[in-house]
Amino acid sequence: MKKKVRKSYTELKKTLSFERDILQNLLDNIPDAIYFKDNKNRLVRVNKYYADGYKLSPEDIIGKTDFDFFQKDQAQRMFDDDTYVLKTGRPIIGKIERTLLPNGTYVCVTTTKIPIKNKKNRVTGTMGVTRDITAYDNTEQTNLDMIINSLKVLDKILETKDPYTFGHTRRVSIIAERIAKELSWEKNRILELKISAELHDIGKILIPLEILNKPGKLSELEYKMVQEHVQQSYDMLKPYSFPSNLPEAVYQHHERLDGTGYPRGLLEDNILPEAKILAICDVMESMISHRPYRQALGMEATLQELKDNIGNKYDKNIVDIVLRVINENNNKPFWLNSEPSL
Ligand SMILES: [Fe+2]
Ligand SMILES: [Fe+2]
Repeated sequence: MKKKVRKSYTELKKTLSFERDILQNLLDNIPDAIYFKDNKNRLVRVNKYYADGYKLSPEDIIGKTDFDFFQKDQAQRMFDDDTYVLKTGRPIIGKIERTLLPNGTYVCVTTTKIPIKNKKNRVTGTMGVTRDITAYDNTEQTNLDMIINSLKVLDKILETKDPYTFGHTRRVSIIAERIAKELSWEKNRILELKISAELHDIGKILIPLEILNKPGKLSELEYKMVQEHVQQSYDMLKPYSFPSNLPEAVYQHHERLDGTGYPRGLLEDNILPEAKILAICDVMESMISHRPYRQALGMEATLQELKDNIGNKYDKNIVDIVLRVINENNNKPFWLNSEPSL
């Protein structure tokens, strides 16, 4: 009987050892960074792939936190995610983010973080799995470039017909991109904004050139026809599937915060942030440019128009950004010498 118990104990040890080896093999050979953290977000175990990324041994990493490896802002975001999982007991699954590695290169990763619970179902730590998807992201970017380049070709064709309008949309796109970057908008949202800028006046293709480029004052009827371009742009875009609010942002680009814009006279809270940016970029580009019916109005008058109408027509935060960026650029229109990076 005594002998049998000893044998079971040996068997148990063997089984445990076998399971530990499986776990260790899994951790060491899987090409994802796997890490376990305690309830203070300190690393308690990492796999080989994780440690190799820092050219350290797993033992050298134990006890450290993300603040020891990443820039402060980024480490804080990671810390906040870990804290969320610890506090709520809910996982974060497949979060996609750009990460600056300690070696200075950016990678695109997808991260899953799950809570580790004890027998009493209390969260005692977290486990994370981070996968590098930079190669996939690059392929996606190539496909995107192809689509965007097609859009540029269309833009060129339209510009040949009406250089005033379509050179304008490209320049509005450059200004809008700069503002969105200053606002730290996420990459896809900036891309959508740039596309909506490229397309915002597409409806003008339906307005006779004699009216669009008339070198004199428009009659009331002609002015109404020009205003119609907003509805026409929207009608052209609406049947197609765009992410989020792209057609709506185009629809709102002549709206003003105090309701004096068109076509619907929307008030501030009902105007999309994208449309608030487009409105300001549109005005700036138009005033700086020469038009068949007037000379270019210059930077001073343009900035004055924005400053005079902060809060009435234009969003204060965006105007402040514009004033700062223009000032940094020695009061020159930075968009005239740059190609859009669409
Ligand atoms: Fe417009
Ligand atoms: Fe415009």
